Amino acid sequence: MIKNKILAASIILFTGIVLAGFSSGTSNPHAGQDPWKAPAWADTLKSPYHEEPLTLAQGEELFTLYCATCHGDAGYGDGAAGGALGQKPANFHDTLVKAQSDGSVFWKIATGRGNMPPFKDVFTDEQKWQLVAYIRHLGKTE
Ligand code: HEC
Repeated sequence: MIKNKILAASIILFTGIVLAGFSSGTSNPHAGQDPWKAPAWADTLKSPYHEEPLTLAQGEELFTLYCATCHGDAGYGDGAAGGALGQKPANFHDTLVKAQSDGSVFWKIATGRGNMPPFKDVFTDEQKWQLVAYIRHLGKTE
């Protein structure tokens, strides 16, 4: 009898610990994700390239190859690989992203953070600005 009580108590305790751990980890999986701020100087970065008719098409091509797996084809942060990450990929339709300067978005693409890889050495500056233009374009569409 006493043995059973101890067993029952330890099962309850154990379940409690597991549930507590589980809920603190999943009730808001992004609670620990601090807003990502680019340094102030990044706001002064401006694209030296003129937007050409091809800019968006090139941005889209890069985005589809390198970014859509996490950020989703339409940039809602809902790509297949993104769902598996503890850290949620940014949604480019979010006002937090839209309110940022182009330079800040450029800096983030180059620098990366956590699961967001740094693309500094992957792309030329021109390609990164094409991506910025495409992210802006996505942010304007539904
Ligand atoms: C492996 C998944 C992954 C890939 C691939 C990826 N990202 Fe991200 N991205 C993330 C995650 C996760 C965050 C959120 C990082 C954070 O807040 O710390 C993020 C954040 C961002 C942000 C910052 C938004 C903001 O203001 O907070 C930009 C811009 C961005 N990604 C652009 C891109 C571009 C452009 C590409 C492709 C060249 C790309 N990402 C590829 C996972 C990814």
